Amino acid sequence: MNSKGSKKVYIRTFGCQMNERDSELISGMLRDDDYDITEDIEKADIILFNTCSVRQHAEDRVIGNLQKLKTRKKKNPDLKIGVLGCMAQRHGEMLFKEYPQVDVVVGPSNIYDIPKLLIDGKTEEKTLAVKNKKRPKKGPTPEYRNGTFSAFVNIMYGCNNYCSYCIVPYVRGREVSRPKKEIVKEVKMLADKGFKEVMLLGQNVNSYGKGQTQKVNLAELLEAVNRVKGIERIRFTTSNPKDAEKSLFRAMRDFDKVCEYLHLPIQSGSNKILDLMNRKYSYENYVRKIDLLRSMIPDVGLSTDILIGFPSEKERDFKDTIKAMEEIKYNSAFIFKYSPRPPAMSSFLVDDVPEYIKKERNTELLNIQKKISHAKNKELIGTEQEVLIEGKSRMSEKEMVGRIRNNTSCVVKGDDSLIGKIVKVKIVGTSPFTLKGELEADLFLSGE
Ligand code: 5AD
Ligand code: SF4
Repeated sequence: MNSKGSKKVYIRTFGCQMNERDSELISGMLRDDDYDITEDIEKADIILFNTCSVRQHAEDRVIGNLQKLKTRKKKNPDLKIGVLGCMAQRHGEMLFKEYPQVDVVVGPSNIYDIPKLLIDGKTEEKTLAVKNKKRPKKGPTPEYRNGTFSAFVNIMYGCNNYCSYCIVPYVRGREVSRPKKEIVKEVKMLADKGFKEVMLLGQNVNSYGKGQTQKVNLAELLEAVNRVKGIERIRFTTSNPKDAEKSLFRAMRDFDKVCEYLHLPIQSGSNKILDLMNRKYSYENYVRKIDLLRSMIPDVGLSTDILIGFPSEKERDFKDTIKAMEEIKYNSAFIFKYSPRPPAMSSFLVDDVPEYIKKERNTELLNIQKKISHAKNKELIGTEQEVLIEGKSRMSEKEMVGRIRNNTSCVVKGDDSLIGKIVKVKIVGTSPFTLKGELEADLFLSGE
């Protein structure tokens, strides 16, 4: 398998937005090298899984997919199978032993080597690339992007926080910020191509700039990106509450393109659990930040992650989490059941909350959040909002769906011609998670 040319590559992504962006980069590098990218796994000569290790369930899905390929690989030894991303870094060589159908294993900090590995690595020589623990600040910058109006932009890689439950520092390495100049250059290039929205990505964007020779923080980066002509919306994710500061809230308030939306994972409402999680903030401390943010931007959209069933989570700890949700009233929340991730520190604690309790707590929180989300959405009825239309609604052929600035989904009557446009709507109704908007006199704010 040494030639590329007409080789067809299928890439499937598991996990977070950083992985989505990595897959897009890999796809771009391979396109630049004359590979064909296919959506059809059956037609592929090379199958790449860009994997996630955040929970056991994420890994199980990849393993299921690898198992399905076993007979196909036996029948066609020329088929090349690659495991990329977080699972590759976490399990390394073991993947070749357990799943001999796998040819290439490449960790997240080594993805720039993929084109070379696909040429050099012969089928009979398994290739393991997990050596780089830290992602190089600079890499190839293929032009290819998945979309036409909204793009992910990496601003930093890795994480230094070591929350006790989390695999990320072990698989994505130490924190590295990309230089501000490089990021702004990329955003300008996107604006020139007609992109309207950028989502700045990092594991903890609030510590952007730390350890750089040129002193710069997230607020200053936002200011620079805000100046890029053509870009109309700026989002960023994900934030660690311990580092979320007034300078960021001020940037969100003062820079017109920065959307009024913050994803601020609380994980638990119990100080005992937060301490065991090594989160480095207390519930009171977290709420003070939310109060400050809401006093500066009253209509800010807030979402969170909650991790239930962490070792030693008792009923009273869970009650604290319920209380937190009821007090803070997020617009939306992602709820996850704890799973131990060796070598992360909490894997040394006994996973003592039984699965059925995790399930019960999960369902209870989902029900509470559904009511809160519905109530928050009802508050928006009668208001005017701007919606960036993303595509067709899943519910109706005649409706399109997009997001208002606070990140809530909103459906609007219309057709494909609205995709990528920002339209002004009046909110006329809502379901628990989706607003209904009416176009205001077909008045486009942009996109002509
Ligand atoms: N088990 C379950 N959920 C986890 N998360 C991180 N690590 C684990 C784990 N070991 C959740 C956290 C994080 C989100 C991306 O995934 O809530 O914010
Ligand atoms: Fe999954 Fe975390 Fe890796 Fe993203 S960084 S793919 S969430 S393990």
